[in-house]
Amino acid sequence: MATNRTFTMIKPDAANAGNAGAILKMIEEAGFRIVAIKKTKLSAETAGKFYEVHKERGFYGELCAYMSSGAIFPAILEKENAVEDFRKLIGATDPKKAEAGTIRAIFATSIEANAVHGSDSDENAAIEGAFFFAETERF
Ligand code: CMP
Repeated sequence: MATNRTFTMIKPDAANAGNAGAILKMIEEAGFRIVAIKKTKLSAETAGKFYEVHKERGFYGELCAYMSSGAIFPAILEKENAVEDFRKLIGATDPKKAEAGTIRAIFATSIEANAVHGSDSDENAAIEGAFFFAETERF
């Protein structure tokens, strides 16, 4: 099903470093409209549910600990071709491999503390957005 929405989280490393404003500026300047946003903190259990798809991976435990280590900014974003264009804007998962000028190349510190999350499909964008936001919180 086609959608013009994607889901992101500004992760604890970027939020703690005071980079949320600069990252949101890049996102808006790239043409994304913020449909929903909030500041919140995940428990390790809730982080585990969000990243359940990775539960067999070796980094799952560390990822859940990291994602619950500080505040995050989850957000739903809207733009034509949102999922693909947002993944271009943020760059590769590993910041060492991220193209210059991408959000991860500028702000990420490691493959785990990689500044932002971006949905990998329209289907996951819808699931991930619903994880954090009710319909009444989207404008
Ligand atoms: P994200 O796009 O949020 O989706 C899954 C996350 O797992 C990813 O960003 C990274 O933060 C993390 N991740 C992926 N691969 C690794 C890895 N090899 N080691 C540690 N963390 C990883």
